[in-house]
Amino acid sequence: MASPGIVLILGAGPRIGAAIAERFSTIGYKVALASRTGGSKAAKSSKDILSLTADFSQPSSIPSLFTTIKQTFSAPPNVIIYNAGSLTPPPEKDDPLSIPAEDVQKDFVVNVVTPYVAAYEATKAWAELGGDVKKTFIYTGNITNVAIVPMPLMVDVGMGKAAAAYWVGSADAVYREKGYKFHYADERHADGRLKGQDLDGEAHAEFYAQLAGHESEVPWHATFVKGRGYVKF
Ligand SMILES: NC(=O)c1ccc[n+]([C@@H]2O[C@H](COP(=O)([O-])OP(=O)(O)OC[C@H]3O[C@@H](n4cnc5c(N)ncnc54)[C@H](OP(=O)(O)O)[C@@H]3O)[C@@H](O)[C@H]2O)c1
Repeated sequence: MASPGIVLILGAGPRIGAAIAERFSTIGYKVALASRTGGSKAAKSSKDILSLTADFSQPSSIPSLFTTIKQTFSAPPNVIIYNAGSLTPPPEKDDPLSIPAEDVQKDFVVNVVTPYVAAYEATKAWAELGGDVKKTFIYTGNITNVAIVPMPLMVDVGMGKAAAAYWVGSADAVYREKGYKFHYADERHADGRLKGQDLDGEAHAEFYAQLAGHESEVPWHATFVKGRGYVKF
């Protein structure tokens, strides 16, 4: 069977990153991991796994990752998963407006700007790939693009997720006719509540593999529930 391609996991750590790396490797993808520690917390085996070091507080870290993957695997990634998230707790814990501006700015880059650059690099890379190769960009989100979580702790990451959801949806609308799919993936509890600390790496791996396989028509706003897949809330 032909290989389904190459997956690049940006922000690959011990929970979601490790589960996705394992699953995509099992179903035949070549896997590239990137994080500040080179995805070392996510790589359980080294077979066909490329570990890359990058700090997403610098959007300029992205293009060279695509170059290295192309040099190593002789093709660019057809699946890109942006999983890194950055959050600074408010120093005055009851005041959502007390986070220093420089921290808001730094986290906004990691949550919004760097994945935006990665999505652009993806579209440039995908233009080189044949029409039979399935091309997918997945951004790991949470409920904050559609609901205000009344916790000051969530404000910093929430403004990033909400902003990123906008460009993800916009890219999907424009590029779907080319067969490119962009998803803002958000695991929820079965009743639609924020998954938060109960987040499940395996559930992400299963759903992200379905999205990458273009198995069914899932909209850009890909809310999902463990064991059920896409659920519209
Ligand atoms: N649906 C929900 O309710 C929900 C709940 C919780 C979290 N989430 C989302 O899930 C994602 C994280 O999940 P997880 O912790 O389980 O993932 P993970 O794959 O276990 O870890 C993410 C990895 O991203 C890397 N990273 C963070 N900042 C980075 C940076 N500036 N540059 C490069 N790499 C960076 C870290 O590795 P290094 O230390 O090696 O850089 C970290 O280990 C986030 O996007 C988060 O917002 C969603």
